[in-house]
Amino acid sequence: MEKIIDQIYKSLSKLLKKKSKGLHDPLFKGNEKKYLNQCINTGFVSSVGNFVTKFEKLISKYVKSKYAVATNSGTSALHLILKYYKISNKDEVLLPSLTYVATANAVIYCGAVPNFVDIDDDTLGVSPKKLEKYLKKITKKKNNFSYNKKTGKKITALIAVHLYGLPCRIDEVKKVCKKFNIILIEDAAEAMGSFFKGKHLGTFGQAGILSFNGNKPITCGSGGMIITDNKDLAKKTLHLSTHAKIANKLDHYHDAIGFNYRMNNLSAAVGCAQLEKIDEILNAKRKNYIMYFKYFRKNKFLSIFKEPLKSKSNYWLVIGILYNEKIKNELLKFLRKKGYICRAIWRPLHTLQIFKKFPRDELHSSQKIFNKTLSLPSSPSLNYKN
Ligand SMILES: Cc1ncc(COP(=O)(O)O)c(C=O)c1O
Repeated sequence: MEKIIDQIYKSLSKLLKKKSKGLHDPLFKGNEKKYLNQCINTGFVSSVGNFVTKFEKLISKYVKSKYAVATNSGTSALHLILKYYKISNKDEVLLPSLTYVATANAVIYCGAVPNFVDIDDDTLGVSPKKLEKYLKKITKKKNNFSYNKKTGKKITALIAVHLYGLPCRIDEVKKVCKKFNIILIEDAAEAMGSFFKGKHLGTFGQAGILSFNGNKPITCGSGGMIITDNKDLAKKTLHLSTHAKIANKLDHYHDAIGFNYRMNNLSAAVGCAQLEKIDEILNAKRKNYIMYFKYFRKNKFLSIFKEPLKSKSNYWLVIGILYNEKIKNELLKFLRKKGYICRAIWRPLHTLQIFKKFPRDELHSSQKIFNKTLSLPSSPSLNYKN
C-alpha cells in the first residue's frame, strides 16, 4: 500500500509545483476591482444595480437560454425552481445520490421526498437506462402522471446533475422524463462552460441552474443563476427572489411569501468581469486535464477520468480513478501532508444519516465510483514544473 501511495505522490510531484492554496482557487485577472469600485462609487451595492441585469443578459447569451435570473446561490436558484413548480409534501423528486448535498436540500426545503437514482460509470450522471427501469418498477400512472405505487406520492420532477462539469446523457434522460411525464430540472451548478452535443448544460430541461460559488470555474464569491426558455418561470422566480415585492417606490406591498434570494450588485460585478475571461479560464482548465492525462497515461495505480463522448466538459475538478480503492483514504492524508490538496468526491447522499430514510434505487455505481475516485488540484492557475 505504501509503495503505491509513494508512486502516485512521485508522479504528482513531477507534474505539479505545490503552490495551489485549495482544490480550485479563483482566477482574478480582469476587471473585477474596476467594476467593484464602480458599485462602491455609485452606492449600488445591493440587489438593485446595473451589473445584476447585465450579468443575466451575458449569461443567457453565453448559454443560449431565453431568460436568466440571478440569485445569491445555486442552492437558492434550485429552491426557487422547485417552488415555481409548487413542489410540496405531496411530491417525490428524483435525483442522483452522487451529488453535492445542496441538490437534496432544496427538495427537503419544499417538504418533498428525495428519491435517489443511480449513475452511469462513464458520465457520473443519471443513467437513463437505470432510471427507466426503476420508474417502470415503482410507478403507476394516474391522470397521465406517475405516482410511486408504494408511497402514493406523485413523482413530479427529476433533478439531473452534471457532476464535476461532466455532461450526463441528458438527451436520453429527457426522453425518459417525457415518457413518465416528469419535469426535468438540470443542476448544472458545476457545469458553467460545459456542453453536450454543442448545447450548454442546463438548457435541456424545463429549467437549469448554475453556481458561481468561490470554488467554481467562474465565480461571484457566492451566486447562482436560473436559466430557462420559460418566460413565466423566469418572471415568477425573479419575483419570489425579491420577497415577492410589487414594484412601488412609495409603498411596500408583497403578494406572496417570497425569499431574499436575489444576487447583489457587488457579486454580479465580479461575475461580469469573470465572464470576460471565461475562455482563458476554460482553456487553462482543459490544459490541466491534458497535463494530468499525459502524466498518468501509463501509471499503473491511477488513471484520469475523461469527458464523455459528444461532450465538452469544463473539467471543473479533474477526477483520478484508483485501481486499488483501499488506498484512497491513506493517499488523501499523505498528499495533503505533502501539500497537494486532493479530496474525496461527494459522498453518496443515501449513506448520510440525514437521508437514510428516503426511497432509492440500487446505487451500485454511485457507491463504486465514490470508493475509487478522488478529485485532484484543478485551479486554472495551477503551476506545473515544466
Ligand atoms: C451539484 C451542486 N448543486 C448545487 C450546488 C449549490 O450551489 P451554491 O453553492 O452556489 O449554493 C453546488 C455547489 O457547490 C453543487 O456542486
